[in-house]
Amino acid sequence: MVPPFFHHLYRDNGGKRLTGIINWNKLRKAMISEGRKRRGRENPGEMWDKRAEEFNRSTRGRSERTDRQVASLGLDPDCTVLDVGAGTGRLSVPIAKIVKQVTAVDQSRGMLNYLEENMAEEGLSNYRCIQQRWEDVELGVDIEPHDVVIASHSLGMFDLREALAKMDAAANRRVYVFTAAGKWFFDDFEEELWERVYDRPPRRGGGFRSDYMLLYNILHDMGIYANVEIRDAEHVQRYESLDEAVERWRERGGRSLRRTNPF
Ligand SMILES: C[S@@+](CC[C@H](N)C(=O)[O-])C[C@H]1O[C@@H](n2cnc3c(N)ncnc32)[C@H](O)[C@@H]1O
Repeated sequence: MVPPFFHHLYRDNGGKRLTGIINWNKLRKAMISEGRKRRGRENPGEMWDKRAEEFNRSTRGRSERTDRQVASLGLDPDCTVLDVGAGTGRLSVPIAKIVKQVTAVDQSRGMLNYLEENMAEEGLSNYRCIQQRWEDVELGVDIEPHDVVIASHSLGMFDLREALAKMDAAANRRVYVFTAAGKWFFDDFEEELWERVYDRPPRRGGGFRSDYMLLYNILHDMGIYANVEIRDAEHVQRYESLDEAVERWRERGGRSLRRTNPF
Protein backbone atom coordinates (compact mmCIF):
# COMPACT_ATOMS: atom_id res chain seq x y z
CA MET A 1 0.00 0.00 0.00
CA VAL A 2 1.56 3.34 -1.07
CA PRO A 3 0.92 6.25 1.39
CA PRO A 4 -1.15 9.11 -0.16
CA PHE A 5 1.76 11.61 -0.49
CA PHE A 6 3.96 9.06 -2.19
CA HIS A 7 1.04 7.88 -4.24
CA HIS A 8 0.92 11.36 -5.76
CA LEU A 9 4.57 11.10 -6.81
CA TYR A 10 3.96 7.60 -8.02
CA ARG A 11 1.13 8.72 -10.30
CA ASP A 12 3.15 11.74 -11.51
CA ASN A 13 5.69 9.33 -12.78
CA GLY A 14 3.33 7.55 -15.08
CA GLY A 15 2.66 4.92 -12.41
CA LYS A 16 5.92 3.22 -13.34
CA ARG A 17 8.33 3.81 -10.49
CA LEU A 18 8.56 5.63 -7.20
CA THR A 19 11.38 8.13 -7.56
CA GLY A 20 12.87 10.13 -4.70
CA ILE A 21 11.37 13.31 -3.30
CA ILE A 22 14.54 15.29 -4.00
CA ASN A 23 15.96 15.52 -7.50
CA TRP A 24 19.57 14.88 -6.45
CA ASN A 25 20.99 15.36 -9.93
CA LYS A 26 19.35 18.77 -10.21
CA LEU A 27 20.54 19.70 -6.72
CA ARG A 28 24.12 18.85 -7.64
CA LYS A 29 23.83 20.79 -10.91
CA ALA A 30 22.77 23.81 -8.85
CA MET A 31 25.84 23.42 -6.60
CA ILE A 32 28.17 23.16 -9.61
CA SER A 33 26.62 26.17 -11.37
CA GLU A 34 27.03 28.24 -8.23
CA GLY A 35 30.75 27.42 -8.06
CA ARG A 36 31.28 28.12 -11.77
CA LYS A 37 29.39 31.40 -11.65
CA ARG A 38 31.57 32.59 -8.78
CA ARG A 39 34.80 31.57 -10.42
CA GLY A 40 33.85 32.86 -13.88
CA ARG A 41 33.48 30.64 -16.91
CA GLU A 42 36.82 28.89 -16.87
CA ASN A 43 37.47 25.84 -19.00
CA PRO A 44 38.01 22.92 -16.56
CA GLY A 45 40.55 21.29 -18.94
CA GLU A 46 42.66 24.44 -18.88
CA MET A 47 42.37 24.70 -15.12
CA TRP A 48 43.81 21.17 -14.76
CA ASP A 49 46.54 21.96 -17.31
CA LYS A 50 47.67 24.76 -15.00
CA ARG A 51 47.50 22.56 -11.90
CA ALA A 52 49.14 19.51 -13.53
CA GLU A 53 52.69 20.09 -12.32
CA GLU A 54 51.63 20.83 -8.75
CA PHE A 55 49.21 17.86 -8.68
CA ASN A 56 51.85 15.50 -10.01
CA ARG A 57 54.36 16.70 -7.42
CA SER A 58 51.84 16.25 -4.59
CA THR A 59 50.77 12.75 -5.56
CA ARG A 60 53.83 11.10 -7.14
CA GLY A 61 55.28 7.94 -5.73
CA ARG A 62 53.70 5.32 -3.54
CA SER A 63 51.28 6.28 -0.83
CA GLU A 64 49.21 4.23 1.54
CA ARG A 65 46.03 5.78 0.14
CA THR A 66 46.91 4.81 -3.44
CA ASP A 67 47.96 1.28 -2.42
CA ARG A 68 44.68 0.79 -0.56
CA GLN A 69 42.62 2.09 -3.47
CA VAL A 70 44.32 -0.24 -5.95
CA ALA A 71 44.02 -3.25 -3.60
CA SER A 72 40.29 -2.63 -3.19
CA LEU A 73 39.69 -3.10 -6.92
CA GLY A 74 40.34 -6.87 -6.83
CA LEU A 75 42.10 -6.81 -10.21
CA ASP A 76 43.54 -9.81 -12.05
CA PRO A 77 46.16 -9.98 -14.82
CA ASP A 78 43.56 -10.72 -17.52
CA CYS A 79 41.35 -7.71 -17.02
CA THR A 80 41.07 -4.35 -18.72
CA VAL A 81 40.55 -1.12 -16.79
CA LEU A 82 39.10 2.21 -17.88
CA ASP A 83 40.19 5.14 -15.68
CA VAL A 84 37.84 8.12 -16.10
CA GLY A 85 39.56 11.40 -15.21
CA ALA A 86 42.84 9.52 -14.82
CA GLY A 87 44.87 12.70 -14.26
CA THR A 88 48.59 12.10 -13.86
CA GLY A 89 48.11 8.35 -13.50
CA ARG A 90 48.26 8.13 -9.72
CA LEU A 91 46.07 5.02 -10.06
CA SER A 92 46.52 4.12 -13.75
CA VAL A 93 50.26 3.52 -13.31
CA PRO A 94 50.09 0.98 -10.44
CA ILE A 95 47.04 -0.59 -12.09
CA ALA A 96 48.92 -1.07 -15.39
CA LYS A 97 51.48 -3.14 -13.45
CA ILE A 98 48.73 -5.64 -12.59
CA VAL A 99 46.33 -5.82 -15.54
CA LYS A 100 46.41 -6.49 -19.27
CA GLN A 101 45.44 -3.03 -20.49
CA VAL A 102 44.50 0.40 -19.10
CA THR A 103 42.64 3.17 -20.91
CA ALA A 104 43.12 6.59 -19.35
CA VAL A 105 40.56 9.24 -20.24
CA ASP A 106 41.12 12.85 -19.22
CA GLN A 107 40.10 16.24 -20.58
CA SER A 108 43.49 17.76 -19.69
CA ARG A 109 46.52 17.31 -21.97
CA GLY A 110 48.74 18.66 -19.20
CA MET A 111 47.66 15.95 -16.75
CA LEU A 112 48.01 13.20 -19.40
CA ASN A 113 51.53 14.36 -20.26
CA TYR A 114 52.55 13.54 -16.69
CA LEU A 115 50.68 10.23 -16.89
CA GLU A 116 52.74 9.29 -19.96
CA GLU A 117 55.93 10.37 -18.22
CA ASN A 118 55.07 8.33 -15.11
CA MET A 119 54.20 5.25 -17.20
CA ALA A 120 57.51 5.55 -19.10
CA GLU A 121 59.44 5.85 -15.85
CA GLU A 122 58.01 2.49 -14.80
CA GLY A 123 58.65 0.95 -18.24
CA LEU A 124 54.92 0.45 -18.90
CA SER A 125 53.35 0.51 -22.35
CA ASN A 126 50.09 -1.44 -21.88
CA TYR A 127 47.95 1.67 -21.82
CA ARG A 128 46.19 4.15 -24.07
CA CYS A 129 45.42 7.81 -23.40
CA ILE A 130 42.31 9.52 -24.67
CA GLN A 131 42.21 13.27 -24.23
CA GLN A 132 38.51 13.96 -24.13
CA ARG A 133 35.79 15.10 -21.77
CA TRP A 134 33.94 12.05 -20.48
CA GLU A 135 30.73 13.74 -21.62
CA ASP A 136 32.02 13.70 -25.22
CA VAL A 137 33.25 10.09 -25.25
CA GLU A 138 31.10 7.88 -27.46
CA LEU A 139 30.92 4.27 -26.34
CA GLY A 140 31.50 1.87 -29.19
CA VAL A 141 33.22 4.62 -31.20
CA ASP A 142 35.96 6.09 -28.97
CA ILE A 143 35.99 3.31 -26.39
CA GLU A 144 34.87 -0.31 -26.18
CA PRO A 145 33.60 -1.73 -22.87
CA HIS A 146 36.24 -2.61 -20.26
CA ASP A 147 36.03 -5.13 -17.43
CA VAL A 148 36.40 -2.55 -14.69
CA VAL A 149 35.70 1.18 -14.81
CA ILE A 150 37.06 3.52 -12.14
CA ALA A 151 36.67 7.24 -11.44
CA SER A 152 38.69 8.69 -8.59
CA HIS A 153 38.02 12.25 -7.44
CA SER A 154 37.21 13.09 -11.03
CA LEU A 155 33.48 13.76 -11.02
CA GLY A 156 33.78 17.17 -12.67
CA MET A 157 30.83 16.44 -14.93
CA PHE A 158 27.85 18.78 -14.85
CA ASP A 159 25.29 16.03 -15.44
CA LEU A 160 26.42 13.34 -13.03
CA ARG A 161 23.49 11.05 -13.75
CA GLU A 162 24.39 10.91 -17.43
CA ALA A 163 28.11 10.45 -16.64
CA LEU A 164 27.41 7.56 -14.25
CA ALA A 165 25.06 5.87 -16.72
CA LYS A 166 27.87 5.95 -19.29
CA MET A 167 30.35 4.45 -16.80
CA ASP A 168 27.83 1.72 -16.02
CA ALA A 169 27.38 0.98 -19.73
CA ALA A 170 31.17 0.92 -20.27
CA ALA A 171 31.79 -1.72 -17.57
CA ASN A 172 31.53 -5.45 -18.18
CA ARG A 173 32.08 -6.30 -14.52
CA ARG A 174 32.17 -3.43 -12.03
CA VAL A 175 32.39 0.35 -11.57
CA TYR A 176 34.33 1.88 -8.66
CA VAL A 177 33.94 5.54 -7.81
CA PHE A 178 36.17 7.15 -5.18
CA THR A 179 34.86 10.37 -3.79
CA ALA A 180 34.55 12.28 -0.52
CA ALA A 181 32.46 11.71 2.57
CA GLY A 182 31.94 15.23 3.85
CA LYS A 183 34.48 17.85 2.90
CA TRP A 184 37.62 16.79 1.10
CA PHE A 185 39.69 19.19 -0.97
CA PHE A 186 37.86 22.08 0.64
CA ASP A 187 37.89 21.35 4.36
CA ASP A 188 37.27 23.53 7.43
CA PHE A 189 40.82 24.87 7.40
CA GLU A 190 40.54 25.89 3.74
CA GLU A 191 37.17 27.51 4.39
CA GLU A 192 38.71 29.65 7.11
CA LEU A 193 41.65 30.50 4.88
CA TRP A 194 39.25 31.41 2.07
CA GLU A 195 37.44 33.93 4.30
CA ARG A 196 40.75 35.52 5.27
CA VAL A 197 42.01 35.64 1.68
CA TYR A 198 38.87 36.85 -0.08
CA ASP A 199 37.02 38.63 2.69
CA ARG A 200 33.83 36.75 1.93
CA PRO A 201 32.36 33.36 2.85
CA PRO A 202 33.26 30.40 0.65
CA ARG A 203 30.99 29.40 -2.20
CA ARG A 204 27.74 27.73 -1.25
CA GLY A 205 27.97 23.95 -1.02
CA GLY A 206 31.76 24.32 -1.52
CA GLY A 207 33.27 21.27 0.11
CA PHE A 208 30.19 19.11 -0.34
CA ARG A 209 29.89 19.10 -4.12
CA SER A 210 31.62 15.72 -4.33
CA ASP A 211 29.99 14.21 -1.27
CA TYR A 212 29.16 10.55 -1.70
CA MET A 213 25.61 11.06 -0.48
CA LEU A 214 24.79 13.04 -3.63
CA LEU A 215 26.28 10.31 -5.77
CA TYR A 216 24.63 7.54 -3.76
CA ASN A 217 21.21 9.12 -4.09
CA ILE A 218 21.57 9.81 -7.81
CA LEU A 219 22.48 6.15 -8.30
CA HIS A 220 19.57 5.08 -6.12
CA ASP A 221 17.19 7.09 -8.30
CA MET A 222 18.66 5.27 -11.31
CA GLY A 223 17.80 1.93 -9.70
CA ILE A 224 21.46 1.21 -8.89
CA TYR A 225 21.93 0.28 -5.22
CA ALA A 226 25.62 0.91 -4.66
CA ASN A 227 27.80 -0.65 -2.00
CA VAL A 228 29.50 2.05 0.05
CA GLU A 229 32.68 1.77 2.05
CA ILE A 230 33.90 4.71 4.09
CA ARG A 231 37.62 4.93 4.78
CA ASP A 232 39.82 7.51 6.45
CA ALA A 233 42.13 9.29 4.02
CA GLU A 234 44.34 12.32 3.95
CA HIS A 235 44.98 14.65 1.03
CA VAL A 236 48.26 16.53 1.17
CA GLN A 237 48.79 19.63 -0.94
CA ARG A 238 52.45 20.54 -1.48
CA TYR A 239 53.71 23.92 -2.67
CA GLU A 240 57.29 24.70 -3.66
CA SER A 241 57.22 28.02 -1.87
CA LEU A 242 54.98 30.53 -0.15
CA ASP A 243 54.86 32.49 -3.42
CA GLU A 244 53.50 29.47 -5.24
CA ALA A 245 50.85 28.91 -2.54
CA VAL A 246 49.74 32.56 -2.85
CA GLU A 247 49.63 32.30 -6.65
CA ARG A 248 47.51 29.12 -6.58
CA TRP A 249 45.08 30.69 -4.17
CA ARG A 250 44.87 33.81 -6.30
CA GLU A 251 43.89 31.63 -9.27
CA ARG A 252 41.27 29.75 -7.27
CA GLY A 253 39.28 32.71 -6.09
CA GLY A 254 39.37 34.95 -9.14
CA ARG A 255 39.45 38.71 -8.97
CA SER A 256 38.99 39.95 -5.43
CA LEU A 257 42.12 38.85 -3.58
CA ARG A 258 42.76 41.04 -0.54
CA ARG A 259 45.91 43.09 -0.55
CA THR A 260 47.15 41.78 2.78
CA ASN A 261 49.05 38.51 2.87
CA PRO A 262 46.84 36.09 4.80
CA PHE A 263 49.49 33.42 5.25
C1 LIG B 1 41.67 15.53 -8.76
S1 LIG B 1 42.24 14.92 -10.33
C2 LIG B 1 42.19 13.18 -9.99
C3 LIG B 1 43.11 12.38 -10.86
C4 LIG B 1 43.15 10.87 -10.55
N1 LIG B 1 41.91 10.23 -10.85
C5 LIG B 1 43.54 10.64 -9.11
O1 LIG B 1 42.72 10.12 -8.34
O2 LIG B 1 44.67 10.98 -8.76
C6 LIG B 1 40.80 15.15 -11.36
C7 LIG B 1 41.01 14.81 -12.82
O3 LIG B 1 39.75 14.53 -13.41
C8 LIG B 1 39.71 15.11 -14.69
N2 LIG B 1 38.30 15.34 -15.04
C9 LIG B 1 37.39 15.99 -14.30
N3 LIG B 1 36.22 16.05 -14.96
C10 LIG B 1 36.41 15.42 -16.15
C11 LIG B 1 35.57 15.18 -17.28
N4 LIG B 1 34.33 15.60 -17.30
N5 LIG B 1 36.09 14.50 -18.33
C12 LIG B 1 37.39 14.09 -18.33
N6 LIG B 1 38.23 14.32 -17.29
C13 LIG B 1 37.74 14.96 -16.21
C14 LIG B 1 40.51 16.39 -14.54
O4 LIG B 1 40.96 16.88 -15.79
C15 LIG B 1 41.63 15.94 -13.63
O5 LIG B 1 42.73 15.47 -14.35
